Amino acid sequence: MQGKTHAVRIDTEQQMIELGERLAQHAKRGMVVALAGPLGVGKTTLARGVLRGLGWTDEVRSPTFNLIHEYATEPPVCHADLYRIRNPQELADLGLDDYLESHLCLIEWPEVAGELLPSDAVAISLEFVDGARDVRIEGLSL
Ligand SMILES: Nc1ncnc2c1ncn2[C@@H]1O[C@H](COP(=O)(O)OP(=O)(O)OP(=O)(O)O)[C@@H](O)[C@H]1O
Ligand SMILES: [Mg+2]
Repeated sequence: MQGKTHAVRIDTEQQMIELGERLAQHAKRGMVVALAGPLGVGKTTLARGVLRGLGWTDEVRSPTFNLIHEYATEPPVCHADLYRIRNPQELADLGLDDYLESHLCLIEWPEVAGELLPSDAVAISLEFVDGARDVRIEGLSL
């Protein structure tokens, strides 16, 4: 990972959306953003903010069943959730690597992808702290 790490305290869902909107200002094709953290911490909410920042006004649903959702924004977005991936074959079948260079990829449960993700991915980890969330960002200054 490149660059330094910084952390922000996020108290509300709205602030999480706004953080995503700020992230969207750095969006480009081939950028991979790994969104790590426990169930319900706000990974999809942050992704929703990124998409809103890119001008997407329709719904952004969690990629829980279809594990990859594509959005025709500029740059185009691939939003993936790897929680249900159980083995390397399932990961290969998902075809995530088809998106890595052409899209901004927002990937929940990135640890499942192992070495498939590029070493220069932006690493964002979210954790619950006292009813709020701490968000640690590595590889990008927001
Ligand atoms: N500060 C906050 N930031 C983000 N979400 C918050 C915050 N406070 C409350 N919430 C709520 O927490 C929930 C976060 O859900 P979200 O789907 O974004 O989590 P997730 O990390 O993607 O979970 P999963 O691992 O199940 O995909 C939402 O219902 C949101 O309204
Ligand atoms: Mg989610």
